[in-house]
Amino acid sequence: MFRFLTAGESHGPCLTVIIEGLPAHLPLDVEAVNAQLRRRQGGYGRGGRMKIERDQIEVLSGVRFGQTMGGPVTLRIENRDWVNWRERMSVAPVEAEIEPVTRVRPGHADLTGALKYGLDDVREVIERASSRETAARVAVGAVCAQLLAQFGVAIHSHVIAVGGVGYPPDAEPDVAQPDFWARVEASEMRCADADLTQRMIARILEGKRAGDTCGGVFEVIATGVPAGLGGYSQWDRRLSARIAQALMSIPSAKGVEIGGGFGLAALPGSQVHDVVRYEGGPDGRGWRHLTNHAGGVEGGISNGEPIVARVAVKPIPTLAHPLPSADARTGENIEQTRYERSDVCVVPAAGVVGEAMLAIALTDAWIEKFGGDSLSEQRRNVEGYLATLRREADSARVVE
Ligand SMILES: Cc1cc2nc3c(=O)[nH]c(=O)nc-3n(C[C@H](O)[C@H](O)[C@H](O)COP(=O)(O)O)c2cc1C
Repeated sequence: MFRFLTAGESHGPCLTVIIEGLPAHLPLDVEAVNAQLRRRQGGYGRGGRMKIERDQIEVLSGVRFGQTMGGPVTLRIENRDWVNWRERMSVAPVEAEIEPVTRVRPGHADLTGALKYGLDDVREVIERASSRETAARVAVGAVCAQLLAQFGVAIHSHVIAVGGVGYPPDAEPDVAQPDFWARVEASEMRCADADLTQRMIARILEGKRAGDTCGGVFEVIATGVPAGLGGYSQWDRRLSARIAQALMSIPSAKGVEIGGGFGLAALPGSQVHDVVRYEGGPDGRGWRHLTNHAGGVEGGISNGEPIVARVAVKPIPTLAHPLPSADARTGENIEQTRYERSDVCVVPAAGVVGEAMLAIALTDAWIEKFGGDSLSEQRRNVEGYLATLRREADSARVVE
């Protein structure tokens, strides 16, 4: 029902994405999408490419007078760097001899892609495997976030740790503080704690000086998600699985936890499961849980609490002091692979991509549940469902 497809190479003319399944008459704020693209470009530790690009979308189809029309929405993001690559990335054959890339970089798709597609110029792998593609996903996620925001769903991310410097393992940063997200947005590390921000930056600098890179952990949170998205009937309907897949698809993601995640494995059940309460009446919050170790999903279905997930991001693979590797053409072992212009730490940017991927996973489940070809039809479905939840629960209490 909801789907999208991205296309484009890292140094090709542009990235393109076609989004299908959005309801008609969804107002589309182009500047708000561009603001998300700028957020993806930021964060301390980014490299030279981000100084070249000024990512913004051009809307090529599906929108009229600022609103979707129900048909496919096509977005285009220009690669400003393309002008430097016209010959090397030419669609037509060229006269010039273009030197192939043959030394594979450990940790990248260089070897796996070359083997899989039978390519002997690794450039043809790098171009599509590059995380540049995540700019297109951030644009899709920003559109999804605009749909979800119509219904009070908000998505945020923040950095928990970089290179081993971060909040203590069982600390739960108090994201409910009124200025928490403003502090995250003001931090170069997208971390609400100013002292931690400085220590993370120092850690990245230390890594950079050593010709090395840093990974880390980010957390992504969606609030305002009603109970009922996803399903337990089939493995691929489970919201937790859909969220995990969406987040694991981020280049460099190596682990996803939902709620208490791996930490729950060591605890007794009595300390893990979130006590259920019902607060009826006009001022009551309805169904709620006293804690949120589940991270907002029970039985593969959203339970009305914030959806909380953490993602482990590996240190990026391009090292200024490159690792030993091998030549994809000759099989010759080499002391050092190549260095290609690169970031040093992408955890804050990966968090922004994480917000987009969570927005995409939730929109998919949202449209599956609430459907509707226009925003007003969808709104009727949402409001009808929410009212029913409430009424049924209140009347159940009367019956008791
Ligand atoms: C926003 C973002 C930017 C990235 N930038 C770089 C980079 O400049 N250099 C690099 O080596 N890896 C970078 N990565 C990570 C690689 O794209 C990724 O590690 C690689 O494609 C291999 O995929 P895998 O780590 O999922 O196995 C970035 C990842 C993200 C999410």
